[in-house]
Amino acid sequence: MNEGYQLRCIGCAQEIEPRALPRNFRCEQCGDLYDVVYPDWHGPKQTRPNPSALRWLWKERRSSLEAADRSGVWRFREMLPILGAESNIVSLGEGNTPLYTLPRSGQRLDVSQLRAKHQGMNPTGSFKDTGMTTAISVARELGADWVACASTGNTSAAMAAYAARAGIRSLVLLPDGEIAWGKLAQALDYGALTLQLRTDFDGCVRVLAEVVRRAPVYLLNSVNPYRLEGQKTSALEIAEQLEWQVPDHLIVPGGNLANSSALGKGFLEMKHLGLTARVPRISVVQAQGANPLVRAMNEFDGKKIEPVEAQTRATAIRIGNPASWRKAVRVVQETGGWVEEVSEAEIALAKAEIGAEGIGCEPASAVTLAGLKKLLLQGKIGHEESVVLVLTGHTLKDPDYTIQYHRGEIPAEAEMAGLASEIKATRREAIRIDASPDQVLRELERVH
Ligand code: F0G
Repeated sequence: MNEGYQLRCIGCAQEIEPRALPRNFRCEQCGDLYDVVYPDWHGPKQTRPNPSALRWLWKERRSSLEAADRSGVWRFREMLPILGAESNIVSLGEGNTPLYTLPRSGQRLDVSQLRAKHQGMNPTGSFKDTGMTTAISVARELGADWVACASTGNTSAAMAAYAARAGIRSLVLLPDGEIAWGKLAQALDYGALTLQLRTDFDGCVRVLAEVVRRAPVYLLNSVNPYRLEGQKTSALEIAEQLEWQVPDHLIVPGGNLANSSALGKGFLEMKHLGLTARVPRISVVQAQGANPLVRAMNEFDGKKIEPVEAQTRATAIRIGNPASWRKAVRVVQETGGWVEEVSEAEIALAKAEIGAEGIGCEPASAVTLAGLKKLLLQGKIGHEESVVLVLTGHTLKDPDYTIQYHRGEIPAEAEMAGLASEIKATRREAIRIDASPDQVLRELERVH
């Protein structure tokens, strides 16, 4: 593991020792967030890791029986910080998620190299596990009694699970009524103290900031830079799965904007170390009703952000005031990507299309396919280019959404714009019949 790391403020560039990191993870000079940086990687060539040796080592570890080697995060531990002992690693066997082809969507959109990195195939069903394993390991190392997060659901599920594994108690703040049942069920199942606050996600974040100031709880929202270090390993996996070639484009959903930042960091670091020759263009897609980054880029060239009152059925990304917006702007600009927004109907249709590939995802993840369609139409992505969509959560996280879609309850007729016929063609009814072979055969005949 990499012990020679520092934390650098992304606002004023001041570097601090890990032990000097403020409890709210914000710079005391300018209030901005920190990045983990590795000074050795910028020194003379001899001090840098050897890319061929790393690629070989990481592959070898997949056949090891050690938990840290088998984890799709800790397998890459030369790229990760931790304060001290390897015995503090808390792992549920995260990462190592599949990179699927999407042949039907690819054909429909005339993109022959279309793939989906399915982070929903993590132990608690979302990408949050990859960051939680690193951040909870640090929390254990620091001797934390309590960890806490505000969440739209997935972070809380992941935190509750990893905290339980570590024997640390966890506090979850959730927006009342606006989270998918699967996620709430997980927080309860894994034993978190679960509070539903009469506010939205942004309100929960504000309350938690005050709680962290007043009580000794270790903050596990994605302002915690160790979360992003774990999350960046998905970028390493994508490159490895493509034999260390990178795709032309990576499309990521945007909520609190940590995942896009983390993946960008991963790709940029790989290029810096010579593990890959280039970086993909990284584009971030938001729901139209929760689009502060899109506005920040289009209206202020990424120089400032104005919070919005967020509204979308993709509750995971119902976020109006994203913490990591500066990091995400940097990634989009440095990699030459774009930001895009998509409607509720576009999200719903894209989700059904991903489902019909035999893969499925939760609504927030489907913004990637919906965004791809728009970027193709605008000529920002060429049909001959290779594209990876980042699917962030499992379809079982939010089964209510899927059932309501197929029953014709969402999206509302008025929201469908030009998509009504496509949406209707993807709907499947659950048909109630008597327990009779004749009736089953009649239904089979009917759809034949
Ligand atoms: N997709 C899913 C399924 C998510 O749960 C989230 C964020 C995102 C995308 C957006 O990622 O915030 O890094 O830009 N969920 C958080 C949570 C906020 O509390 O679970 P981001």
